Amino acid sequence: MSKILRIGLAGCGGQTRNQLAPGLARIPSARLVACADVDASRARQVADEFRIEEVYGDAGELARSGDVDAVIVAVPHRHLKSVALSVLEAGKHLFIEKPIGLNATEGAEVAEAARKRGVVAMVGYCMRYSLSRMFIKALLEGGAVGDVAFVVAGKGGGPLGGWLAAPYAEGGGQLLFLGSHLTDQVLWMTGDDAEAVSGSVRWNAGGTDETSAYTVRLRRGAVASFTVSQATGVSYDFVDVYGTKGRVRGDWYGDVVTVQSRVIPEYAHPTVLRIPGDNLREMCHREMTAFVEAALSAGPSPIPTSDGLRVLRILDAVVASSQSGNWVRM
Ligand SMILES: NC(=O)c1ccc[n+]([C@@H]2O[C@H](COP(=O)([O-])OP(=O)(O)OC[C@H]3O[C@@H](n4cnc5c(N)ncnc54)[C@H](O)[C@@H]3O)[C@@H](O)[C@H]2O)c1
Repeated sequence: MSKILRIGLAGCGGQTRNQLAPGLARIPSARLVACADVDASRARQVADEFRIEEVYGDAGELARSGDVDAVIVAVPHRHLKSVALSVLEAGKHLFIEKPIGLNATEGAEVAEAARKRGVVAMVGYCMRYSLSRMFIKALLEGGAVGDVAFVVAGKGGGPLGGWLAAPYAEGGGQLLFLGSHLTDQVLWMTGDDAEAVSGSVRWNAGGTDETSAYTVRLRRGAVASFTVSQATGVSYDFVDVYGTKGRVRGDWYGDVVTVQSRVIPEYAHPTVLRIPGDNLREMCHREMTAFVEAALSAGPSPIPTSDGLRVLRILDAVVASSQSGNWVRM
């Protein structure tokens, strides 16, 4: 392959237009050559804005185009799997937005197809490119809090609209939209995995999850507690990690990290740090850079589809546990 990655955009909605395409447009080794959307006006708008020549109504057709090396998939949750499979069947590198499918069955299909094809397939967990979240991960890996004892994390905001207001089984709700992000972040930051899950979900009248509280017992013994809601008057996004030697908390809204550590003298007392410039646009630029570099060098994937699958297994378990009242072993 040449040193330029020729990219197609499948889905020309908010995430593509506001974050992913602008991020790609700033990468010298990436070229936006095609875009597709079932809504022709959205495809045309993105094509005009980013000077894209080929415009399709069908993402599969775009994937099969000989002009494209890689496809960015950002479509509503209920279409993620089918569009991703068409990209993988065409043998193209895949960037797929979270949560990669509606449930673990769909996630497993995507992960298996990616494994078989051997292309670079990356999941859009862009919070892994947040400056403050990367800083927290580095502190944890450096032993600033000692052994992790427990984690408290939350993410959410006001009521969801559009296709996100659909029933959970059709891809709506906060668990799939933001709970997936938050669950991934905690596993990534702690470097751990789920052993068992217990959850309680409050559903709204339309069958969409409104507020969920869930506990994940991690394999190394720590517990992580999550709250994901679309019923709060303010947007919130925090991860708070407590260990045998300290504590670190990140509040993404506000660019604030609070550290207290018995290991690092300058953080002996709770210390509030500001991490400016930690915005979505820059995060997605770093994320797109990682994808382009991985695709041009034929891997490895910075965030493999197996990471998307493990999150979907946990979300499935949250819903199952809420229904049965029992813990679900992973
Ligand atoms: N990483 C993040 O922080 C972040 C933020 C927002 C959204 N997302 C994710 O991005 C994805 C898309 O969300 P969005 O906010 O852009 O939604 P959106 O509704 O704004 O855009 C989706 C677009 O996909 C098009 N579409 C639907 N089916 C299609 C198909 N089969 N082929 C081609 N186009 C199709 C729609 O017409 C629409 O233009 C979701 O997975 C969502 O979770 C991620």
